[in-house]
Amino acid sequence: MKRLLAALLILLGAAAGLVYYLGTREEHVPAAPPTASGAEQVRRGAYLARAGDCVACHTARGGVPYAGGRAIPTPFGTIHAPNITPDKETGIGNWSADDFWRALHNGKSKDGRLLYPAFPYPNYTRVTRADADAMHAYFMSLPAVRQENKAPELRFPYNQRALLAVWRALYFRPGVYREQPNQNGEWNRGAYLVQGLGHCSACHTPRNLFGATQDRADLGGAMIPMRNWYAASLTGESEAGLGRWEVRDIVDLMKTGVSARGAVSGPMAEVVRESLQHLDHGDLRAMAIYLKSLPQSARDAEQAAPPMTPENERILKQGAALYEKHCVDCHKPSGAGAPPHFPALAGNRAIMLAAPVNPIRAVLHGGYPPSTQGNPRPFGMPPFGNILSDQEAAAVVSFIRNSWGNRAPMVSSEQVNRYRTVQLE
Ligand code: HEC
Ligand code: HEC
Ligand code: HEC
Repeated sequence: MKRLLAALLILLGAAAGLVYYLGTREEHVPAAPPTASGAEQVRRGAYLARAGDCVACHTARGGVPYAGGRAIPTPFGTIHAPNITPDKETGIGNWSADDFWRALHNGKSKDGRLLYPAFPYPNYTRVTRADADAMHAYFMSLPAVRQENKAPELRFPYNQRALLAVWRALYFRPGVYREQPNQNGEWNRGAYLVQGLGHCSACHTPRNLFGATQDRADLGGAMIPMRNWYAASLTGESEAGLGRWEVRDIVDLMKTGVSARGAVSGPMAEVVRESLQHLDHGDLRAMAIYLKSLPQSARDAEQAAPPMTPENERILKQGAALYEKHCVDCHKPSGAGAPPHFPALAGNRAIMLAAPVNPIRAVLHGGYPPSTQGNPRPFGMPPFGNILSDQEAAAVVSFIRNSWGNRAPMVSSEQVNRYRTVQLE
């Protein structure tokens, strides 16, 4: 009995040791010798920080860029992005290039604290040491801003940072992007940006119960937790399915926020405004080529049309009349719209998603594509939330989902009602 207990204890100790080892391990890579002048290094770093959209989280609404404070809601509670300006007390002014690399690559703060993956270091770990060093040089060149950090407001047990060791042992592997020798340089550049700084998977890949992205379904589409937006599958035939887009349309969408295939809104409009529109054409093209090459899942490619019961027929007829009255001027009787400014609804997969939250939000709350250099004064969609009842909005969304060859399940008044009161972001 005693021996069994001892064996059990040894086993437990070994398991704890393994979790500790896996959960806190680091990869060290020495600083790259700078290949460029200081100014050139800073300029490069600024570009890379754009590609990583660091500003989106590390800036409070209306606050100084990078001084931190934005609240990031997660299913586990709220976490505030810290100050990453070079203030010595409240920011990262005392951080060496090694410390900065450690945060980006290994997900650890300067003092060794394990960082929450609300900071997308599972993506940024793909970034090369040279690129991390350039970003460090850039952040050190910014004006220092004194702004205290706010502690995370997470529920028990998620507020126990040490438990992140377990999460990391299970779901985090540090590692710089490795070039695929059977692909060309352009493809590899695209993969590096999409998987690393672009952190597209942070929104477009479904997460498990513990908030880890599921590699098996990479870019396979996901509800963004707490924000009530659906980031469509970039690989699924039945959703955005970029495999069937022209490279030019993918580049247009990232560069200007609008394209012949559709326009972006909500969180994606922010990604385009703050990050993607600033990337040069070669990088955007590389990303488009990589995205297009991903294996497309044909899973439920053919969405079933709803059964034509008398009830459904009546609702679709009501939807047609509402469309004629409120929508036809911009989206046209044929549903062809006038791209890129007024998106086509006919053949538009973004409105046929099984999860209909985005088209419901568009109709209730309206929206604008981002204002970008390539499209400085975007045309907007007016909100119809005050004009249409839940039932009427459900009818018109069901109608556009099932006209001009479109096919998708009907939308109910309850589904519309759920998104009437969502926080607008
Ligand atoms: C999706 C939101 C998000 C984005 C995008 C993001 N961060 Fe963060 N970052 C966070 C959060 C949240 C934390 C705090 C994590 C914690 O407290 O455990 C953090 C922490 C950090 C830290 C550690 C600071 C400290 O005091 O320990 C550094 C450094 C950092 N981020 C740099 C960057 C850089 C550089 C980029 C762009 C390449 C970036 N972040 C993009 C959310 C983000
Ligand atoms: C902050 C979360 C977030 C990040 C990061 C993000 N996306 Fe999105 N994306 C969304 C949401 C939400 C939508 C749906 C709303 C819309 O269509 O504009 C979307 C839509 C899209 C669409 C349009 C799909 C369609 O059906 O028309 C494309 C293409 C896209 N994203 C590509 C990307 C790429 C490439 C990246 C990485 C460089 C990326 N996204 C990063 C949230 C995000
Ligand atoms: C004044 C012109 C105008 C009117 C009227 C209008 N729309 Fe729009 N619609 C737009 C614009 C512009 C966009 C792109 C908005 C964006 O990207 O945020 C859009 C986007 C949409 C989208 C999202 C498409 C996508 O690719 O994600 C849907 C769905 C939609 N409209 C449906 C409707 C319906 C239904 C009506 C009538 C109830 C309507 N619209 C009336 C201009 C209009």
